[in-house]
Amino acid sequence: MKGTILTGDRPTGPLHLGHYVGSLQNRIRLQDEYEQFIILADAQGLTDNFETPEKLGVNIFEVLLDYLAVGIDPNKSTIFIQSQIPELAELFQYFLNIVTLGRLQQNPTVKLEMREKNFSNSIPMGFLSYPVSQAADILAFKANLVPVGEDQCPMIEQTNDIVSKFNQIYRKEIFKKVEPLLSHTPRLSGIDGKNKMSKSLGNAIYLSDSYAELSKKVKAMYTDPHHLKVEDPGHLEGNTVFEFISAFGHDLEHVEKLKQHYITGGLGDGVVKRYLLEILEDFLAPVRKRREDFSKDRGELVRILKKGNTLARAKAASTLDEVKRAMSINYF
Ligand code: TRP
Repeated sequence: MKGTILTGDRPTGPLHLGHYVGSLQNRIRLQDEYEQFIILADAQGLTDNFETPEKLGVNIFEVLLDYLAVGIDPNKSTIFIQSQIPELAELFQYFLNIVTLGRLQQNPTVKLEMREKNFSNSIPMGFLSYPVSQAADILAFKANLVPVGEDQCPMIEQTNDIVSKFNQIYRKEIFKKVEPLLSHTPRLSGIDGKNKMSKSLGNAIYLSDSYAELSKKVKAMYTDPHHLKVEDPGHLEGNTVFEFISAFGHDLEHVEKLKQHYITGGLGDGVVKRYLLEILEDFLAPVRKRREDFSKDRGELVRILKKGNTLARAKAASTLDEVKRAMSINYF
């Protein structure tokens, strides 16, 4: 084994193609080479959904089904629920002492989310400090690699700040620096072409979408607004349909031919979209089928999570024990 991975998602909604391209793909590949822990970060999800906690219970199972459907194997990856590991909350509390308010307010991802959520005048403390809680998630498992989307890089920086400071204050190398693992494919746009794919913006194609939903979304997808007549030369830059074809098309020769034809003119958007629909359906049909099969056995899903919780808790407890010894708060 090359090391330990800790990665995960907030269970606030089903996962979409952006998640697949941005991190799920890496997790599937790496589960054979690394000891991999995957956190269903429900406590973090609560930081901006504290008024609708029931959302988390439902989506823990939805996200788990998405994982299993794309090929994350529960015998290779330990999938667990954040709130079931109280050691994570305890570690978070100790870390809060070595992070300043000013440092948290500089986090670009948190800043952006605060603007989106209109938290401007009354920022909940839980929300502002979630990067510290995320550092606790990562460090409790002594992970050295974190496969995430690029929006999560500030969380890794925050984690590494904590690593340096903790080791320095308690004069012991308890933690090591962690590294993000970013996807090679750039972050996927939403079907509107204006923003990155996101649940809150309503521009996402979900791993659980039916063929009818998928087809409707592909038809509505943004292309080249200046490509009015079929004979007109088209543009690939900013053309969402081609962005998706590049991300999901396996027949590279055919993709190249389509691109050339489009640029020259004479290729209609309808034809290109039909091709995209075909390749996306080739990818999603087996995912949908596996999702459906797994969803029939709720008992098995619960068993997977309980087993994951037990394994994760043992590991987090052992790190916490080390931390308390380093901090001299192991009194007896
Ligand atoms: N912040 C991540 C997200 O928004 C979820 C998350 C929580 C996470 N803890 C983590 C990701 C630890 C990687 C490592 O999806």
